[in-house]
Amino acid sequence: MGARAPSAPAGATPSAPGVLEEAQVRAMFDRIAGLYDRMNTVMTAGLHHQWRRRAADLAALAPGGRALDVATGTGDLALELAARVGPAGEVVGTDFSERMLALAREKAAGRAGAPVRFEPANALSLPYADAEFDAATVGFGARNFSDLRRGLGEMTRVVRPGGRVVVLEITTPRRPPLSSFFGLWFDRIVPALGRLADTQAYSYLPSSVRRFPGPEALAGIMWEGGLREIRWVLTAGGIIALHVGEVRRA
Ligand SMILES: C[S@@+](CC[C@H](N)C(=O)[O-])C[C@H]1O[C@@H](n2cnc3c(N)ncnc32)[C@H](O)[C@@H]1O
Repeated sequence: MGARAPSAPAGATPSAPGVLEEAQVRAMFDRIAGLYDRMNTVMTAGLHHQWRRRAADLAALAPGGRALDVATGTGDLALELAARVGPAGEVVGTDFSERMLALAREKAAGRAGAPVRFEPANALSLPYADAEFDAATVGFGARNFSDLRRGLGEMTRVVRPGGRVVVLEITTPRRPPLSSFFGLWFDRIVPALGRLADTQAYSYLPSSVRRFPGPEALAGIMWEGGLREIRWVLTAGGIIALHVGEVRRA
């Protein structure tokens, strides 16, 4: 669900600490792709599948519907959406990491009949028409967008009026004891697990989560981008936030 800043390439303008340029984010996910699913399971004790199922429920898709999963990674949320739209529906999963997409395609090939295809795309400039989908989702991807407003704006643009945009993301719990546990887990244990797995990638996770707007602020950004009926639920003791909004009707 997260990853860390590699050092900037020679000659590149260094970013602020914990902030990555888009090319660095893509390279980082290409690098950790083979490890990504296993790290998710270890870091969340397997709960991440349950959170994606809740996100897919919030998309409120009917059989035959069309859905887009942005920053799809290895495709788990797209496959959850595919189970809801059924064989008459269509799900597109997009990501800018080719290695993540390759793993998503392999996973989908093992699920005969899942109406899903995986395509390369940058979330900040989606190659889809306005109002093309009934819902768009993003799971643990929005915090990596170099421009959050633009990424959410693109998801909103490609969903029909009345359709839903769902954001599943890690958030910083405010109250103890979870806030203390969060500090220990994300600042110490997750980076240590990453080092055990021979990658520094997971040291980036805490900073990317802390930079991300809290639940109310995120709801405000969704509203400004044209979403309405916005609500959110916190789960896992306040560490996971699921936001949903409906595209404004004309
Ligand atoms: C933490 S992973 C989440 C993957 C998946 N959605 C999940 O639920 O596990 C973040 C993904 O976002 C992708 N990503 C980040 N910024 C992106 C962008 N601007 N356009 C497309 N993909 C992006 C990365 O390549 C990576 O696969």
